[in-house]
Amino acid sequence: MKISESTVEMLSKQVNAEFYASYLYFSMSIWADRENLPGLAKWMELQAKEELEHAERLHKYITERGGSTILAPIDLPPGEFASALEVMEAAYEHELMVTDNFTRMTATALEEQDFATVSALRWFIDEQVEEEAQTSHWVDRLRLAGERKGALLMIDNQLAQRQEA
Ligand SMILES: [Fe+2]
Ligand SMILES: [Fe+2]
Repeated sequence: MKISESTVEMLSKQVNAEFYASYLYFSMSIWADRENLPGLAKWMELQAKEELEHAERLHKYITERGGSTILAPIDLPPGEFASALEVMEAAYEHELMVTDNFTRMTATALEEQDFATVSALRWFIDEQVEEEAQTSHWVDRLRLAGERKGALLMIDNQLAQRQEA
């Protein structure tokens, strides 16, 4: 069964949100580079790439169901942050909002008995558990470091260990 136009619109909004997330993390990566935090810069760059893959995955699903993804302008993310902690807190907050989006989309798809979309969204619901856990882990670490520069550099080295998925 072909996907409904309202579902295409709903999923297309999320395609835009994934591009925005990518842009946000790219902006955080640029900031971290400027602040001499190469580990955080690398971590955010990889995160930005993952978000592009999410957009691609949604687009592929829309296409497979006979729909056509609707594009919209991508908002400009913030470029200035007070600290690495503030960056990671903003990333965590953003992930919570994205989780909320997927929860609401799943509820709508269930209402419309579009179980193929429910199934496609399930992957994202699972992914969000991981994304929230990771960002909240780094928030906790950065809070522990507080104002100690040595601890911050240690965490930056740990962030640099992240590998491409
Ligand atoms: Fe995402
Ligand atoms: Fe994400």
